[in-house]
Amino acid sequence: MIGIIEYFHNLTGFDPTDEQVETLIDLTTDALKGLVLCYGRGFSKTLCAAIVTLWYAEKSLETTPIKIMLVSSQDTMWEYIEKYIAKSELLMVNRLYKGKYEEVPKEGFRLKNGTIVFTFPQTNKVRGNRADIVIIDESADCPREILNSASLCLTGANPNRIILLSTPHKEGLFTDIVRDPHAFGYLVKVKSSENLSWNKLTMERIKKMYSAKGMTKSEFKMEVLAQIPALTELNYFPRTHLTKCIQQVGCNRLFPNSSLEAGIDWGYDEPTVLTVTEKSHTQRKSIYQKSWRHKPIEELAPIIAEVLKGFEMAKFPNITKADKFPVEYKGCVERYYSDLHINYVNLSDHKQSALEQLQRRIRQQSIIIPSMLVDLIIQLRNYRLEMVRNDDLVISLALSCYEGNFITKETPSKVHFPKHFNLPGGHLGNREYSYY
Ligand SMILES: Nc1ncnc2c1ncn2[C@@H]1O[C@H](COP(=O)(O)OP(=O)(O)O)[C@@H](O)[C@H]1O
Ligand SMILES: [Mg+2]
Repeated sequence: MIGIIEYFHNLTGFDPTDEQVETLIDLTTDALKGLVLCYGRGFSKTLCAAIVTLWYAEKSLETTPIKIMLVSSQDTMWEYIEKYIAKSELLMVNRLYKGKYEEVPKEGFRLKNGTIVFTFPQTNKVRGNRADIVIIDESADCPREILNSASLCLTGANPNRIILLSTPHKEGLFTDIVRDPHAFGYLVKVKSSENLSWNKLTMERIKKMYSAKGMTKSEFKMEVLAQIPALTELNYFPRTHLTKCIQQVGCNRLFPNSSLEAGIDWGYDEPTVLTVTEKSHTQRKSIYQKSWRHKPIEELAPIIAEVLKGFEMAKFPNITKADKFPVEYKGCVERYYSDLHINYVNLSDHKQSALEQLQRRIRQQSIIIPSMLVDLIIQLRNYRLEMVRNDDLVISLALSCYEGNFITKETPSKVHFPKHFNLPGGHLGNREYSYY
């Protein structure tokens, strides 16, 4: 099998630059089990990965069959593969399993020797597949759960590699990995796309955008220089998307056949916040938010129960029995809510996912925030990751619309309670509760 550099040149006709040479070598070095290419837009990440995929497939004809899974939110990678496979040896000698492309198992091709290359969008469908190499393009767009499921698809057989490609344009697991690759077991390469001969026009346009303030400094850093701004620099909910979610509507219910769901972020010095959202098939609308300061949970719990009863919320689901809950906690909940069935969940593992879901909702504009909820809007605008103050309205909202795996069709509404309840002698006193 010829080397990857020559292969790249033969298929694309491009003379790879030094940086591309380095990239192509990294992409074909089997010893790099977890590799991250955090590059600027237009560098040719997708192109290089597509060529490398074809190279691996072709090499397998001389060695052992291989399974390669490509995960992407876009079709670009597959378009490169379709374009360049015609110039490879793969078609010429009728090595494809059946005539042209076969659906294996979705879109992809299979070679007679058993090699399979298949593609998936960034959805739950990736779960449970098996592959020897997993390549995730636009990884920053890939939801945390999907990225995790994709990395669980590795068979363990050689070369047993996972490769993530992206600009770091959005917070999530990808940027977490780039910030601390060692902890996640990855090697990260960072390259800017500022000075590429083929990217000149795009770069001129981007620079104009930047100087006209159509693009912020941190957007420029992320998209072009592939640098991740410090977490504190970022607005977690992008302004433009957020603005579209804020509507001049009242706090009444809007949708027929909707259900209501509540989220509570417990606090003491920082307030306890209750949020109620209306859930339709595709939308969420926040319809109520209230906070209380310096009220111990034992005083507040019955008050909140009354508020919720006033909403005539769809019936509360049964209590979820979770072994890890402290006994006092169950006791406390049962004491105050013996006439209600409440689904409570340990949210310490879920807070981040809930926030990410809210972020996605705001990006997709699948949430309506009435303009009269001014305090909430201010907190959403100012929200930064890892904030510890002035985030309770946001977290309460996130919890009220969180759809975790523990929520089923039989549990149409939910109330979230905190995990730590060390009740000294059954009294909650004025201690500060952990935030969820
Ligand atoms: N060595 C090269 N010389 C000229 N043009 C190139 C070269 N390498 C890549 N390109 C061009 O740059 C584009 C890179 O696109 P793409 O792979 O989609 O970038 P990215 O995924 O990094 O945003 C290719 O479509 C190709 O036209
Ligand atoms: Mg790309």
